[in-house]
Amino acid sequence: MRLSKEFRDQFIQHEMRTHGRKNGFVTDGQEARLLKWLPLIGLSKEKTLADAKLPADAPVVMEIGFGNGDFLVHLAKTHPDWVLVGVEIYLPGVAKAVCRLDDAGEIERCRITQLPAQFVLTNQVAEEQLDGIFVNHPDPWPKARHHKRRIIQKDFAALMVTRLKSCGFIKLATDKPDLAEWMRDILDATPGLTNVAGVGGFIERDSDRPETKFEQRGIKAGRISQFLHYIKA
Ligand SMILES: C[S@@+](CC[C@H](N)C(=O)[O-])C[C@H]1O[C@@H](n2cnc3c(N)ncnc32)[C@H](O)[C@@H]1O
Repeated sequence: MRLSKEFRDQFIQHEMRTHGRKNGFVTDGQEARLLKWLPLIGLSKEKTLADAKLPADAPVVMEIGFGNGDFLVHLAKTHPDWVLVGVEIYLPGVAKAVCRLDDAGEIERCRITQLPAQFVLTNQVAEEQLDGIFVNHPDPWPKARHHKRRIIQKDFAALMVTRLKSCGFIKLATDKPDLAEWMRDILDATPGLTNVAGVGGFIERDSDRPETKFEQRGIKAGRISQFLHYIKA
């Protein structure tokens, strides 16, 4: 590893547990791009989105748990007017996404962080700063005793609502039926959110939505994804 202790202290954390991930591998080439880009577009622990020199008036949209960046790159290409905030605790995923955004020429209007979404939303995002939040195929934590590790929890849902502007959106996807119901039930019960499909409902798949790595895994295993869409009232 060539990433210095100082760099790691600023941009990288190691404490969060993630479901079914093996220790990842970051190549020398990826490391070089992390070293180049994170000081420019990374959100270090002390930096807030307000410090991040975002273009004025651009919609600010966050993806939580972007994996290897499939969806983030798609958003960057299809929404050239958006500022994208990518949040992902898995360092090899961050490294892959940074390379892909750089290759696509889209990285300068992205802000990327390897800190956990709970920390980012609590400490680095102001109230009513986000126009939208995507959460695609969050970790399922299938065992009942691990459900408390699922990212969508009552408090986390309430936190997301405070960070959204009025009329901001939350869109979620999962290929795990019990997680789909878990997320829907929590978000349906969260004050300030309206389920676009009606209470208890799911929306159709957005026609331009790409299949992410974890959605493809679900498809290979014969699972059909479900989609949720909420608006802050
Ligand atoms: C099942 S993967 C899905 C990845 C990608 N969204 C996809 O659809 O292929 C869930 C991702 O969420 C990330 N994650 C888990 N907890 C997180 C947290 N608290 N903050 C940010 N990312 C998190 C994991 O590291 C993992 O990459």
